[in-house]
Amino acid sequence: MGKDLIFLGIESSCDDTAAAIVTGDRRVLANVVSSQTELHADFGGVVPEIAARAHAERLDIAVEQALTDAGLSLADLDGIAVTAGPGLIGGVMAGVMCAKGIAAGTGLPLVGVNHLAGHALTPRLTNGIDCPYVMLLVSGGHCQFLRVDGSDDFTRLGGTIDDAPGEAFDKIAKLLALPQPGGPSVEAEAALGDDTRFTLPRPLLDRPGCDMSFSGLKTAALRLRDQLIAEQGGLRQQDRRDLCAAFQTAVAEVLAEKSRRALAASPVPVLAVAGGVAANTQIRAALAKVAEDAGARFLAPPLRLCTDNGAMIAWAGIERFLAGQRDGMDLSARPRWPLDRKAAPMLGSGKKGAKA
Ligand code: KG4
Ligand code: ZN
Repeated sequence: MGKDLIFLGIESSCDDTAAAIVTGDRRVLANVVSSQTELHADFGGVVPEIAARAHAERLDIAVEQALTDAGLSLADLDGIAVTAGPGLIGGVMAGVMCAKGIAAGTGLPLVGVNHLAGHALTPRLTNGIDCPYVMLLVSGGHCQFLRVDGSDDFTRLGGTIDDAPGEAFDKIAKLLALPQPGGPSVEAEAALGDDTRFTLPRPLLDRPGCDMSFSGLKTAALRLRDQLIAEQGGLRQQDRRDLCAAFQTAVAEVLAEKSRRALAASPVPVLAVAGGVAANTQIRAALAKVAEDAGARFLAPPLRLCTDNGAMIAWAGIERFLAGQRDGMDLSARPRWPLDRKAAPMLGSGKKGAKA
C-alpha cells in the first residue's frame, strides 16, 4: 500500500534550502539542496534573518529544479510534506508558506513533518528497515539518541546538554585557525597526529545514562592551545595535529560509550547514525564496533541523505500520510518541537538554532 505515492518534500529549518521528490517504494527521484554556507561564512554561525530571506528567495527555485530533475510536474504529485519545526523560525515559516501555497494552488494534501523525525526515519527510506532501532543524530545542530518504535513513536534516550559535536568540531577548527566546516579539516589534521600527547576530558562518562556534553572539551583544548603559545611563542603544525587527534578521539570515545549504553538500555537489532559528524571515519568505526559488540547491525545512510535534505522530509511525510495524518492551512511553524513528548526539554540549543 502506498508504493505508488509520489511526494514533494521541502526543508528550510536551518541553512540548507532543500526540495526532493520521493516515492512510496523508497525511490528518491530528485534531491536538490542549495546550501547557504557562503552567506553566513563571515559571521561564525547561521544568521537567522539572512537564512530566512535566502530560503524565501530560493524555495520555489529548488522545488522547480526538483520537479525538472524528476521529469515530473505538480500534477504528478500525491502530496506535499514540509518541515514545520523545530528550527530557525523564519526559515521554517518560509518553507511552510511555500508548501501551503502549492497545496492551495493544486489541492494536494499537506503534511507537516518534524525535522528530527525526518532524520530519524531516514534508515527506513534508505534501507527499508523495520522498527525498533536506535538512531544517533550527530550533526552541527543535533545530538541525541532516539529509540524509534514507529513513524510517530520516538523515545529520547539522551542527548547533549550543551554543544552538538559538529559545533564542537567547528569551534576547535576556529581556535586552531583551520578552515570551516571544522569537521573535515580537524579530521584531516587528526590523521597526522598523536592522540596520546594531550589529555582531554571525557565529559559525563562518570554519570549514568546517555546524556552528553561537548563544550568542556573545546574549553580544555583552548587552554592547551594557549599554554603551548605561552611556552613556545606560537603553535607548531604538529601541535595542531596532536590537539585535533586528542579531540577527535575524545569525541569518538564519548559517542561510543554512550551508544553502548543506549543499546544496553534499549536492545534493538540496528544502531543507525545520521548527521554530518557521521562522515568521520574514526567516529564511524567506533560506533560500528559498539554495534558489533552488541550484536546489532550498524547503518549509516549515504551522507547526502544523512545531512539536511528534502528527501527525508518527503519520506517522513509519506509515512505520516499512510498513517492517516494530514494538516490543514492552519499548520504552523514551530521553533521547538520535541519528538519525544514524554522527555524533559533539553538544556542546550546549538548555534544553528533551537533543536528540541
Ligand atoms: O548534518 P550537517 O550537514 O548539518 C547540520 O548540522 O544540520 O552537519 C554539519 C556538521 C558540521 O558541524 C561539520 O563540521 C560536521 O557536521 N562534520 C564533521 C565531518 N564532516 C562534517 N564532523 C566530524 N568529522 C567530519 N568528517
Ligand atoms: Zn538536521
